[in-house]
Amino acid sequence: MRLSAYFLPTLKENPTEAQIVSHRLMLRAGMIRQASAGIYSWLPLGFRVLKRIEQIVREEQDRAGCQEVLMPTIQSADLWKKSGRYDDYGKEMLRILDRHDREMLYGPTNEELITDIFAASVRSYKELPRMLYHIQWKFRDEVRPRFGIMRGREFLMKDAYSFDLDFAGAKRAYHKFFVAYLRTFARMGLKAIPMAADPGPIGGDMSHEFIILAETGESAVYCHKGYTEFDVLARDVDYEDDLEPIVEHWTSLYAATDEKHDAARFEQIPPDQRVATRGIEVGHVFYFGTKYSKPLNAVVSTPSGEQVPVHGGSYGIGVSRLVGAVIEASHDDAGIIWPDAVAPFKVGLINLKAGDTACTGACDDIYGKLRNAGIEVLYDDRDERPGAKFAEFDLIGLPWQLIVGPRGIAAGKVELKRRATGERQELSIDAALAQVTA
Ligand SMILES: Nc1ncnc2c1ncn2[C@@H]1O[C@H](COP(=O)(O)OP(=O)(O)O)[C@@H](O)[C@H]1O
Ligand SMILES: [Mg+2]
Repeated sequence: MRLSAYFLPTLKENPTEAQIVSHRLMLRAGMIRQASAGIYSWLPLGFRVLKRIEQIVREEQDRAGCQEVLMPTIQSADLWKKSGRYDDYGKEMLRILDRHDREMLYGPTNEELITDIFAASVRSYKELPRMLYHIQWKFRDEVRPRFGIMRGREFLMKDAYSFDLDFAGAKRAYHKFFVAYLRTFARMGLKAIPMAADPGPIGGDMSHEFIILAETGESAVYCHKGYTEFDVLARDVDYEDDLEPIVEHWTSLYAATDEKHDAARFEQIPPDQRVATRGIEVGHVFYFGTKYSKPLNAVVSTPSGEQVPVHGGSYGIGVSRLVGAVIEASHDDAGIIWPDAVAPFKVGLINLKAGDTACTGACDDIYGKLRNAGIEVLYDDRDERPGAKFAEFDLIGLPWQLIVGPRGIAAGKVELKRRATGERQELSIDAALAQVTA
């Protein structure tokens, strides 16, 4: 993509409405624009990151054996009346009347709808287990939408649902999602710690929030420092294996959100290993038993011919929130530092002298080669001061900057800068291409 033709409305000044760094940087880097309170449009740069994150989430759900569906954003109130949540949800639910005065709503979540879909066609234990997910916009009329897309009213969520014959089956599903979440966040360059979370009315210990430690997080969290050194991707996972050992390892040390915090247990951790900070909830796995299957009549026959309601769980990931969470975890004073896996483009190709034939010739050539190699590159072909270009590329945080200037090109050299470390190398064009395409 040529920057001269790219819609990238960056801001030089810090927007005053932004209280946390990710919101500030997303606005400054031209990634989003507020449409109304807690509702955002995604501009080209932001949309690319959103799609990258969505794709990682999708791949890891698929790998775990979960199947993608797509349910609508607008739902009928009927199912919600059956589950009892039409009243319970209160003002957070956006209620809509259609032209026939039928009560509709913009879905804040999908337990009712997916349970209804399941109940319509599944009859026997032989058709279990099932795991389904979708990635769809949700609306929750939050009292205090804030921090940009971190706590929006409209936001993109991956929500998955499991259906099993009994508790033992539901536990196996829970473990699959637990492990899939570890992998998902690690692939984005994030350290997400599973923390014991409020189980809601069901009770039990099958509720974990996946938390990114950050001072700017909304929740108070407490954990053992040891988690920061745990390695996620070290082992290959076969989802048909017993995953309990992995889950046990990841729950072996203390980690709890505010609601589940046990001060006495926390104090047993050696003081230098205690982490009491704030965190960003990027995911939530949660077993809810027969809470929805009973009222919505999602029953199956058992091997002995009995009719029983299925056991369910739901598993959410804040896809749009993750864009902000990645920035909170990876930035410096100059701007964003995208981890390679979620970067909107891999390379920023910077022509320092757009009017110069040698520079422009070399840049056009490099641009073509990178594109042919399947590398996504943002090519700054504009006639601007070098200082302004450097600042803008540091702000938007692409992993590599390939800098082409008249002096270097005369000697057949370009400069390659790694955004994360600031390390710069002078290389031949071929050597630079070899590094960024490796
Ligand atoms: N208002 C919001 N804006 C952005 N992301 C949200 C919002 N509410 C929830 N999420 C994301 O969706 C995930 C699943 O939501 P859920 O656990 O149902 O939310 P909550 O814990 O707020 O009830 C959360 O872990 C979070 O990452
Ligand atoms: Mg939650």
